[in-house]
Amino acid sequence: MTDILLELDHVARYFDVSPPWLNRVLERRGRVILKAVDGIDLAIRKGETLALVGESGCGKSTVARVIVGLYGPTRGSVRYQGVPLAGEGAITDGRRLRQTRRGMQMIFQDPYASLNPRWRVADIVAEPLRAHSPELSKAKLDARVAALLAQVGLAAADGSKYPHQFSGGQRQRISIARALSTNPAFLVCDEPTSALDVSVQAQVLNLMRDLQRTLGLTYLFISHNLAVVHHIADRVGVMYLGRLVEVAPTHELFAHPQHPYTRMLLDAVPDLEMTGKARTAVAGEVPNPLDPPSGCTFHPRCPNADERCRREPPRLRPSAANGGEAACHAVAEGRLPPRTIALAVA
Ligand SMILES: Nc1ncnc2c1ncn2[C@@H]1O[C@H](COP(=O)(O)OP(=O)(O)OP(=O)(O)O)[C@@H](O)[C@H]1O
Ligand code: SF4
Ligand SMILES: [Mg+2]
Repeated sequence: MTDILLELDHVARYFDVSPPWLNRVLERRGRVILKAVDGIDLAIRKGETLALVGESGCGKSTVARVIVGLYGPTRGSVRYQGVPLAGEGAITDGRRLRQTRRGMQMIFQDPYASLNPRWRVADIVAEPLRAHSPELSKAKLDARVAALLAQVGLAAADGSKYPHQFSGGQRQRISIARALSTNPAFLVCDEPTSALDVSVQAQVLNLMRDLQRTLGLTYLFISHNLAVVHHIADRVGVMYLGRLVEVAPTHELFAHPQHPYTRMLLDAVPDLEMTGKARTAVAGEVPNPLDPPSGCTFHPRCPNADERCRREPPRLRPSAANGGEAACHAVAEGRLPPRTIALAVA
């Protein structure tokens, strides 16, 4: 028995962002391909929370969307509970595909946009259940919706209201109830608390943690907020321009970051209690993803770059210093300077 719930093998997702055909012909321009995700290997274990972090546009949401099937992978494969769901070798049995996919659900950043404003909350929460189990009687459906609302800290009477009658935090609770309606084992959460005030954010995060404990859930948790990630994640994956550059257990990553980009991100965190100002700004601009730098795509911003870095893309390799993996020549060659800023880990 394996304890791996989800596996990504060399997953890539490209977008064709070419100008229209006529413009290309008249202006003699070729196709333009944006490599939003460019070869990710990742395994998520049952019951863990794996966080994905990285600057805007590095491909976090695209990874999430490929996992839940909203986008097909351009290359590579996605396996859930050992079943190849997408990409190379994917199963074609539609029924089995739907059944397996029912095990994973996604929660989005903006609960208002993802909840139909014209529907009552009870119908919003019941919708995935209706789709997956049309044989359920109305009485059973109502009972299940009431139980789900209670599970996320809402009253059964809230089911007859509309989304606009709730606060942002309550709306995110509704999204969670809806996501849980089909009894999933795996939740993909894309910035689920980023739109919320800090105090409300903490309540929703605590709810997610409680649900994980009682229901044995596994989370992929996407956030640009490292304090939140420190609070909730067991492991962290750091992405840069469509690739994973470091993956390590959370406490190890915060205490002993290896990759220069991870160090840069952590140096910009004020402290993990979210007070005060950033000590160092994240230096440099993210390169244009349509024209990524050669070799290690981080090299124009990296204080440790050398000739090899400009030439040869580094691969993820085990890094003994934090029990994780890092994609960096300097780490592999043991020429990374010691880290000077130590985070005050609360
Ligand atoms: N449907 C699409 N068509 C074309 N390009 C896209 C599409 N979706 C994403 N991209 C591009 O792919 C790259 C990765 O985008 P993605 O939304 O995955 O990043 P992200 O890490 O989630 O960013 P953020 O933190 O801002 O949410 C970006 O350059 C984005 O512009
Ligand atoms: S491979 Fe080179 S450029 Fe890339 S992060 Fe490591 S040291 Fe910096
Ligand atoms: Mg995103």
